[in-house]
Amino acid sequence: MYRNLRVVPQLIFGRGSVHQLGDLIAGQRKDPLSPVVFLVDRVHRQKEFVRQLPAAAQDLILFVNVDTEPKTVYVDELTLQVKAFSSRRPCAVIGIGGGSTMDLAKAVALMLTNPGSSSEYQGWDLVNHPGIYHVGIPTLAGTGAEVSRTTVLTGPTRKLGINSDYTPFDQIIMDPELLAGAPRDQRFYTAMDSFIHASEALLGTFINEFSRAFAEKSQSMCREVFLGDIDEAIADEMLMVASYFGGMSIAYSQVGVCHALCYGLSYVLGVRHGIGNCIVFSHLEEYYPEDVRTFRIMMEKHGIELPLALTAGLSEREMNEMIRVALSLEPLWQNALGPDWKAKMTPERARELYLRM
Ligand SMILES: NC(=O)c1ccc[n+]([C@@H]2O[C@H](COP(=O)([O-])OP(=O)(O)OC[C@H]3O[C@@H](n4cnc5c(N)ncnc54)[C@H](O)[C@@H]3O)[C@@H](O)[C@H]2O)c1
Ligand SMILES: [Fe+2]
Repeated sequence: MYRNLRVVPQLIFGRGSVHQLGDLIAGQRKDPLSPVVFLVDRVHRQKEFVRQLPAAAQDLILFVNVDTEPKTVYVDELTLQVKAFSSRRPCAVIGIGGGSTMDLAKAVALMLTNPGSSSEYQGWDLVNHPGIYHVGIPTLAGTGAEVSRTTVLTGPTRKLGINSDYTPFDQIIMDPELLAGAPRDQRFYTAMDSFIHASEALLGTFINEFSRAFAEKSQSMCREVFLGDIDEAIADEMLMVASYFGGMSIAYSQVGVCHALCYGLSYVLGVRHGIGNCIVFSHLEEYYPEDVRTFRIMMEKHGIELPLALTAGLSEREMNEMIRVALSLEPLWQNALGPDWKAKMTPERARELYLRM
């Protein structure tokens, strides 16, 4: 059975395109009292483009806190806040920020039309009702969250996405100007997410020509940006596209060893996705030899230093929990190591890899 891929139906790409948001959502404002909800990473609170957001009197702007990556409890809290704000159902939810903020927006858009807690929908195809029309506006490039059919959440028992055909944005705005001012390290970590997506797609068993085309282009753009000598403005444009392409490559294949181990690391230690992937990837030369070597050269060129001995002080219980979370991600291992992955990635082997980090 081939996957019937749901893609984001509308996108705008270009410098300053964020200023078209007002026109884009005008068509959604059929009920004059129904609010548009803007979920904006609070790091942007003072930015000019935020002051210029097309918010009307009945709209709600929520500055979200992504000091930690999105949790189901936070999604539920934000959903309640939106419901309490107006008796009218919002006509649009706009997420402006990195992968964390975009994921919050996707999840809130779904939870406004589906009952219960967001933790009940972590998994595959558990969402029954379409969400509110939602728009994604990335301010970091790399996660591919702008294009994916998931919103990654940490819940009471696991870190797992709400994967569904209702999850993808209805519209995205890829404005490279919004990447300006991102901290150098964060920019690198998040960009490497797309490099790693492509690597895991290309070297996985699910690879196909569709996925390969996106992955190869995504990786070559990352290499040009981080190994070449490219003007920063052009580099931002390239990273924005590399992120989208990296997301498209895994949409029709899957991620692999790095993401599976990173989920465990992040669940137990709260390590963020971008840096977590970098830490794990740097130890995976056996699985992704050439790409890990390239990655190390990019790191060196940009003076990136990763923390060492992260797992050194872990208790036995924490280590087992980390291994449990990582090994529960069956499709990732199947892609990475094939149908007999359990023989190749035993809990002992996972422990051995974690102990290097
Ligand atoms: N849905 C998906 O398909 C998908 C895929 C990969 C990762 N993710 C999720 O994405 C998240 C990681 O996203 P991310 O790497 O984009 O980072 P992020 O959204 O977690 O943000 C990282 C930090 O950068 C700050 N930041 C964001 N944009 C900025 C800017 N322009 N200038 C200055 N600071 C800025 C944020 O405030 C935060 O402190 C994780 O929660 C991960 O689980 C989702
Ligand atoms: Fe990722």
